[in-house]
Amino acid sequence: MPAPSLDSLVSLCKRRGFIFPGSEIYGGLANTWDYGPLGLEIKNRLQREWWKRFVRSRRDMVGIETGILMNPKVWEASGHVSNFGDPLVDCKKCKERFRGDKLLEEKIGVEGAAVLTLDQVQPMLIAEKIGCPSCGSVDWAVAKKFNLMFKTQQGVVEGEGADIYLRPETAQGMFVNFKNIAQTSRKRLPFGVAQVGTVFRNEITPGNFTFRTREFQQMEIEYFVEPGTEGPIFENWKEVMWQWCLDIGLSPERLRIREHTKEELSHYSSRTLDIEYKYPWGWGELYGLANRSDFDLTQHAKCSGQDMTYTDPDDPKKKFVPYVVEPTFGLTRTVLAILLEAYEEENLADDDTRTVLHLKPLVAPFDLAILPLSKKEHLSSYAEELHKKIVQETGLFVDYDVTGSIGKRYRRQDEIGTPKCVTVDFGTIGEDAVQGEKDTVTIRDRDTQAQERLTISSLIEKLKAH
Ligand code: GAP
Repeated sequence: MPAPSLDSLVSLCKRRGFIFPGSEIYGGLANTWDYGPLGLEIKNRLQREWWKRFVRSRRDMVGIETGILMNPKVWEASGHVSNFGDPLVDCKKCKERFRGDKLLEEKIGVEGAAVLTLDQVQPMLIAEKIGCPSCGSVDWAVAKKFNLMFKTQQGVVEGEGADIYLRPETAQGMFVNFKNIAQTSRKRLPFGVAQVGTVFRNEITPGNFTFRTREFQQMEIEYFVEPGTEGPIFENWKEVMWQWCLDIGLSPERLRIREHTKEELSHYSSRTLDIEYKYPWGWGELYGLANRSDFDLTQHAKCSGQDMTYTDPDDPKKKFVPYVVEPTFGLTRTVLAILLEAYEEENLADDDTRTVLHLKPLVAPFDLAILPLSKKEHLSSYAEELHKKIVQETGLFVDYDVTGSIGKRYRRQDEIGTPKCVTVDFGTIGEDAVQGEKDTVTIRDRDTQAQERLTISSLIEKLKAH
C-alpha cells in the first residue's frame, strides 16, 4: 500500500474528528493541534496498552507521575541548560528563522547534519545555494545555538518570580525520584520506572502535522542496571521496542533501526539508536533507545549533594551508581504513524473508491458500530437495547449511528477505522424472513467488507472472546 499524502490524512483527521487545528476559531496558533473525540480515543488506547505491557505485566517495572515544573537546578544538572539546543539560522532578508541542520538534511540530503558545528552551517548553506524556504534568499546570518526549553516564571508578581522551565522530557522526574522509588518499591536491580506525560520544546521549525510540535507527549522508561550489564539489556529493549511497533500495526517495511554516530550522540548518551518510520516525506525518528550510563544520577548527586548510590541487598559492601538504559516512545508521534500506516484510498469495482483506516482493533477508536437499517421506532428501539446489552456484557466501546443510507454509514465507519459493523434489519425483529431470522443480525468486516449472519447470542460470545 503506498504511503498516503500527508494532506489527505490531515483532511480526514479534521473531517472525522481525530485531530483539529489548535485555537481554530481565533485563526489558530501555528503548529498546535487538539485531539478530537476519535483521536483522543486512539491516544488513550495506545497509552493504556503501553502501560499494560510495560508496567502492569512486568515485575521489574513501576510507574510514576512527576510534575511538569521542576526546580531549575534539575535542568542545570541534566545539561539541558547548556546543551539542549539546535542551530538556528536567520534569513537576513525576510527575518524568518530555521533550523540550519534540517535545511541541509531536507534540501540536499546531508545525513546527520546535527553534528555540524555552528561555524560550518552558514557557509555550507551559502555554498550549496540553499534558499530561504520563505523568500528564496541565500543571505544567511551566522548560525546560533538556540535553547529549546520553554521558560516561564513562578510567583504571583510579574517580573519578580523565579525563572523556571517547562520540562522538555519526562526522564528527569524519574531520575530525581530514583532513591524514593528504590526505597519504597523495594525493587532490586535491574528495574525500570515508566512515565507518560506532556513535555514542551520550543522547536525552531515544528511541522509535518503532529510529527514535530512544541507540546507533545512521551511514554518513557528509565531502566536502572548494574554497570557492566547494560549491553545485553540494551539489545533486549531493542527487540521489545521493535515488537511493540509491529503489534500496534506498523509494517516492518516502513520501519528501520539507525544507530547514532559518535558525533551525533546527545550530551548524556554513550550509545543511541532510533527506530525510524518511513513518513510521506521520508525516514524520520519514531522512538529512541539510549544508554545514558550513570550520567544523570551522577550529575544529580553532584549538584544536589544527595547520595545516589545503590546498595546490593545481597552484598551490602557492593555499592554503585546504576547505569540507565532508556527506551523512549513519542505518544503523539505514534498516533501519527499508526494513522499514516492505516490510511488507504481503496479502488473498488465499478470505478468506486472508499477511504478506509485499517487500524488494528487494539487501537481503533470504536470496537464496533450498531447500525439500525431504518429509523422506524420499533426497529431503532430494538437496536438501542442491543447496544446497551453489548456494552454491558462485553465492555466494548460501541458507536451507534442511525442517520443516512446504510452504504454511507458503512463508509463513515470505514473512514474512522471501526473493525466491525452490526446491522439491525427487519429480519432481526421478525418482520422480514428474506433479510434473516428473528434475533439474528448482519456483521460486516471493515477490511474485507464480507458480511455474515449471526444470532445475537453467538455475536455476543464472539465479541467476548475477542
Ligand atoms: N528522554 C529522551 C528524549 O526525550 P528524544 O529523542 O528527544 O529523547 C523522545 O525524544 C521521543 O519523543 C522521540 O523519539 C519522538 O518520538 C518524540 N519527540 C521528540 N521531539 C518531538 C516533537 N517536537 N514533537 C513530537 N514528538 C517528539
